[in-house]
Amino acid sequence: MLPISLSITIDRADTRTLPVQLADRIRAAIDNGELRPQSRLPSTRALSADLGVARAVVEKAYEQLVAEGWIDARRGSGNYIRLVPHAVRSAASSPSTDAASATPPRISLRPGIPWTPLRASEAWRRAWRDVGGSPPPGDYPDSAGTLELRTHVADLLRRARGLHTDAASVVITTGSIHGLDLALGALAKPNTTEHVLALENPGYRSAAALAKHRGWSIHDIPVDRDGLVVEHLDSSPQQTAAVYVTPSHQYPTGGFMPIGRRRALADWARRSGSMIIEDDYDSEFRYGAAPLPTVAELSPDRTVYLGTVSKTLGAGIRLGWMVAPQSIVDRITSTRRETGDHPSVPLQQAMTSMLRDGEWDRAVRTARRLYRARDRVVTAALSKFGELSGVGAGLHTVLVLEAGAAQNVATVCAASGVDLPTLEHSTRSSTARGGIVVGYGSIGDDEFDYAISVLVDALEAELLN
Ligand SMILES: Cc1ncc(COP(=O)(O)O)c(C=O)c1O
Repeated sequence: MLPISLSITIDRADTRTLPVQLADRIRAAIDNGELRPQSRLPSTRALSADLGVARAVVEKAYEQLVAEGWIDARRGSGNYIRLVPHAVRSAASSPSTDAASATPPRISLRPGIPWTPLRASEAWRRAWRDVGGSPPPGDYPDSAGTLELRTHVADLLRRARGLHTDAASVVITTGSIHGLDLALGALAKPNTTEHVLALENPGYRSAAALAKHRGWSIHDIPVDRDGLVVEHLDSSPQQTAAVYVTPSHQYPTGGFMPIGRRRALADWARRSGSMIIEDDYDSEFRYGAAPLPTVAELSPDRTVYLGTVSKTLGAGIRLGWMVAPQSIVDRITSTRRETGDHPSVPLQQAMTSMLRDGEWDRAVRTARRLYRARDRVVTAALSKFGELSGVGAGLHTVLVLEAGAAQNVATVCAASGVDLPTLEHSTRSSTARGGIVVGYGSIGDDEFDYAISVLVDALEAELLN
């Protein structure tokens, strides 16, 4: 993070000492909002050279501001402006014109939101220029998605995921959660009131919420460092219609399901007559070994595979895909036709253009470089505090902690403007493991440096003192 520049002059005629003058100026600038919380101050060496004063003057001023709680001295990182609630103002002051009344920015380490450039890339503009070059589609489109996009997606899955499929088995969705919704609709047996969905616990909250809204019963399955514990699938008193899993990077605990367990899962589905819903939400991001082959490749007739652009291009785009056995694809597309649920054609055209021109691959490579570097920083900063899970993949890492400690750390970070979830947030029934989830996808470099230093301080205070 680059330090901010300070426009401060020292008045030699002032009767106050130089450190007092300097501290007064910086304090006032923080208090009136000129200097933003979480910014890094110049080093003592740089500021003393700028002002033409001895380094000890700046050191003394900074020490005073640390003691008063205006700034934080972070070992090896520098001096940062703290989030200070503003003093209650008199009725005479106008809040609308007062810079100090602006809400200080919060930094979110929420997992799952990807980094996006501040300005539209040339590739993104070109894709939409292509779309703008065709007239608006007048009629309702193919409810499975355009043949062109389905063909490109099948090709992508073959080369990137080793999943051998074709356009006829692909359905375009508005994202993974829509894919799950379509799958639940197709898998609910007619004339049966009770459908059971096995779900990872901890697991993806939206998947559980959706299943409940659709009237499914949820059977919680524990996860360990290898992901969903397959032996527990047989513990349901009722027939389980389907199991929803995130085998390539368990969400949120980060486990990678090894090949032996994938085979056991495929075996269980065959024996029990159940379906596997495989959510492959972030497999584009691997920083060491390539991801394991999909469960869908091991068991194509028993798996509904879900993919999304939410972790690559952006969660607001609302585009994804599903690969399923033909009977399920037919059921889904006919329901979509009947209910008028058609994917947007312009969005599909834009995605087709990005895949066709190699821009999707380029965007993924750029993001992968950034996340790889952040994954390393997070690992280096946090490994001394305990077991890390999910390292080397995706957009988040988990530090396993006792649940109470995890909550304390999250509370201390929140007081410094850094929000991060605990594992408890994604846990439906009590599990032995707690922890904090460190999502590093969406924030800028400055915020990332600051958030990690706040987190390290909070962990030191909680665990090492
Ligand atoms: C496990 C998991 N699957 C899928 C998604 C993305 O879903 P969608 O494609 O509906 O945006 C997320 C987003 O946070 C997720 O955590």
